Amino acid sequence: MNHPDEHSHLFTLDPTRDYPRLVRGEGVYVYDDQGKQYLDAIAGIGVVNIGYGRKRVAEVMAEQAARLSYAAPNIFGNEPAERFAAQVARWLPGDLKSIHFTSGGSEAVEAAIKLGRQYFYERGPESKHLVISRWTSYHGATLGALSATGYPGRRKKFTPYLLDWPHIPPVYCYRCPYNKEYPGCDLSCARALEGTLNEVGADNVVAFIAEPIVGAAGGAIVPPSEYWPIVRDICTRHDVLLIADEVITGFGRTGRPFAVNHWEVLPDMITMAKGIGGGYASLGAVAVSTKIRGVFEEKGMPFDHIFTFMANPISTAAAHEALKIWEEENLSEKAAQTGEYLLHQLDGLKRHAIVGDVRGLGLMAGLEFVADQTTKEPFPAEKAVAKRVGKIALQNGLVTYPGGGMVDGVRGDILSLFPPLIFSRQNVDELVDKLDKTLTQVEQTL
Ligand SMILES: Cc1ncc(COP(=O)(O)O)c(C=O)c1O
Repeated sequence: MNHPDEHSHLFTLDPTRDYPRLVRGEGVYVYDDQGKQYLDAIAGIGVVNIGYGRKRVAEVMAEQAARLSYAAPNIFGNEPAERFAAQVARWLPGDLKSIHFTSGGSEAVEAAIKLGRQYFYERGPESKHLVISRWTSYHGATLGALSATGYPGRRKKFTPYLLDWPHIPPVYCYRCPYNKEYPGCDLSCARALEGTLNEVGADNVVAFIAEPIVGAAGGAIVPPSEYWPIVRDICTRHDVLLIADEVITGFGRTGRPFAVNHWEVLPDMITMAKGIGGGYASLGAVAVSTKIRGVFEEKGMPFDHIFTFMANPISTAAAHEALKIWEEENLSEKAAQTGEYLLHQLDGLKRHAIVGDVRGLGLMAGLEFVADQTTKEPFPAEKAVAKRVGKIALQNGLVTYPGGGMVDGVRGDILSLFPPLIFSRQNVDELVDKLDKTLTQVEQTL
């Protein structure tokens, strides 16, 4: 912890707050400078998929730093980036075999949007420029990615800077935006994409971007199985690119290598980051279809874009070793199995009157808190229930991810869990015990 008399030169996300200072990680646990142990039920933030303290990744990074620490991406290629791109391509579906590296998720989304725009600029129609996305989504903090993001709390103060792009309602059966019920709803939320395309004109639209399973913005919302095939069909018929934002769902999080594998839908691009480096490299990527790459090749045009740290040799070397561990330990399958157990155990927490919904897939789970389980009435925002849960859980040695705004952008508390993919059943038991205890404590304060 910061000592009261100690002035930190770090401008943290909340400079008024004393954050516990982490000094070490081992497996699924992290330790602060007071020696306190925390069970990390969010893997950093869906990042440290292979767990903390993997010495072989650290050794590869040190070796690579000593051999070649940097290669300018507009002048040179480098071996680790080549090798890692080939390794990632093996796991990607269909013809998404061309990988463009970035340093993180927001950059991956920016790159995908600009790739999509330049694809149509070179190929036509040049009028295409809009990106359609959904409410209750998160695509990143940079201004392009934030323009696509549908998270009112994160957009509000920056609205004057944001591009005026259309957002369609979320896929969210617990509180259906159309007040309908699945399957009688005929997937109105997916069909809304076609309505919006007709309204704004498909000739003006580059892409539709969405998270296959909504992450922290929605607390692990899993769509009905028809959702993604419907949006794929709409995009194809209107010549609009489909971008699956798999920054959090990629690399086994949902129990499949990529979440789109659940529905065998092939997007035109997949954005990824977080778990791509297993928690050891600051890395992101966009995977691009043959159709998109082909236009750049035919026209002989470079992508008019660069990030200094893209395809960095240390990051890609680390990620290559981390992905080898992921492969050797079958972490995607392990996430599927442990995830089933996690969701089953979490479901038992509905015995707490404040738990309205438990949802998720693989090792990606969400709880939604309500004042009334039957009517789904949310808590008033001032009660900050999710934040309370997160704070008390942390005191109890459990790291979770609180969020909110599910009802009207303000009310509607959620808690997300994204454990490391190495999580065991015993780790799940410890998580659920700690959360159980935390919820009892929170209920006493309400
Ligand atoms: C789906 C999704 N897209 C994009 C991002 C942005 O990634 P980053 O924070 O690495 O910039 C995130 C981060 O949470 C995410 O979950």
